[in-house]
Amino acid sequence: MNVILVGFMGSGKTTIARIISKKHNMRFLDTDKLIERKEHLTIKEIFNKKGEKYFRELERQLIKNEISFCNNCVISTGGGMPCFFDNMKNLKSKGWVIFLNIPFGEIVKRVKKSDKRPLFKNIEKARELYEERANCYKQAHFTINVENHKEKIVEEIEQLVF
Ligand code: S3P
Repeated sequence: MNVILVGFMGSGKTTIARIISKKHNMRFLDTDKLIERKEHLTIKEIFNKKGEKYFRELERQLIKNEISFCNNCVISTGGGMPCFFDNMKNLKSKGWVIFLNIPFGEIVKRVKKSDKRPLFKNIEKARELYEERANCYKQAHFTINVENHKEKIVEEIEQLVF
């Protein structure tokens, strides 16, 4: 069984995935990190040098070539991953997909100081993207509202999938 976390940048996917993987002795995977390692470039560099289209193709390939073979993994996905191609459908066929739903205002507080995220350079554009993505994320198996402490979020996920 796999647990796959989706949601906007800054929703806490990586933090929560790490906690669950440790607690349940599952393998932790972070799709952005895997892509960076494969390309020997940071996400920012991939966007700058090769473009978003290239990055989305890497994400698609990652689902096909790596996530498809996962068992007992907790996967933190890049914020856009489920919203391109038929990625959401493919992710849902590989495990429980959980959407970490967080208000935009909270995201702004969390990520505005980081310049690692190419799609968060402009707050208004990021807000549009946030709104556009709502329909995509809603297709996850479960939605968790990220308004509690991390421990509580982990508990909620445990109740749903274990
Ligand atoms: C993206 C989110 C990022 C990363 C890339 C694009 C997006 O991941 O994959 O910058 O399209 O929302 P995080 O959600 O981990 O920040």
